[in-house]
Amino acid sequence: MPFEQKKQSGGGPVGSLPPTFELKPREYDAIRVLVKEKTGISLGLHKRDLVVSRLAKRLRALGLSGFEQYLDFLQGPEGADELVQMINRITTNKTDFFREKHHFDFLNDTLLPSIYQAGEASGQRKVRAWSAGCSSGEEPYTICMVAAEFFQNKPGWDFKLLATDLDTTMLQKGSAGVYEGRLLEPVPRNLLTKYFNRVKRGNDIFFEAKESLRSMITFRKFNLMYPSYPLKIPMDFIFCRNVLIYFDQQDKIDIMTKFHETIKPGGYMFVGHSESLMMVRNLYKHVGTTVYLRV
Ligand SMILES: C[S@@+](CC[C@H](N)C(=O)[O-])C[C@H]1O[C@@H](n2cnc3c(N)ncnc32)[C@H](O)[C@@H]1O
Repeated sequence: MPFEQKKQSGGGPVGSLPPTFELKPREYDAIRVLVKEKTGISLGLHKRDLVVSRLAKRLRALGLSGFEQYLDFLQGPEGADELVQMINRITTNKTDFFREKHHFDFLNDTLLPSIYQAGEASGQRKVRAWSAGCSSGEEPYTICMVAAEFFQNKPGWDFKLLATDLDTTMLQKGSAGVYEGRLLEPVPRNLLTKYFNRVKRGNDIFFEAKESLRSMITFRKFNLMYPSYPLKIPMDFIFCRNVLIYFDQQDKIDIMTKFHETIKPGGYMFVGHSESLMMVRNLYKHVGTTVYLRV
């Protein structure tokens, strides 16, 4: 279950801590309404214990005795800041380098060659892409390694990626671009040495993205529930993978409609392994495993 895979603070693997605060049904309803309104994430009734375990540490840190006080706190002068903290704990951030590898094969073997051919013909040697719901950066760094490899001997090409998320803790991790050694296991060795510096901190080994890779990415906070997506330049492709699985059908339709206005005609949309764009098939044509062409 994706909600069981939270990696950040909250007291270790979710589910391992016994709930330490009682969350009454009406308090849980208030939290669900707030989360849905602010993030689009639809929390089912069965996620109540999970929410308690994810927020218990916040309540303790704030010295609060229960969720009623926490809900009052969210309405108070520090409520806006606390809401950010709350959302950071509620979101599910599981990700990996080269997750769903077939997407990166498609990018390298099909999409980038077709962009390259069109660009050489028109003289427009520019590619703009978006990783929406980028979590801690593994997806954007993977996209950029594939693009950097593809364009390495093709002069004049300019590839830039926008990487966005709602979770500010994840954005900080992505911008820092420093990862524990074990997280880099899916990265082929030649790419690892080319795009990452090995750094030792105490007894631990970390890998830090090199400037050549970092300079291709802009990390920004962006909520997919915003009413419009005012991007200046249309996107050649968008990755929005494993983000909308927690959203209601109408929110999915609205978000995919806004993406549609953001992607160039002939551009591509990549979604996660359990997702489909059947509900917006007038906007996107299925062309590969969880890969869609903007109609
Ligand atoms: C499971 S991760 C997916 C990461 C990556 N796309 C992948 O597939 O490996 C989902 C991400 O979506 C983000 N997210 C959830 N709701 C969001 C929203 N309304 N706006 C922007 N990002 C959101 C979460 O913070 C989380 O980092």
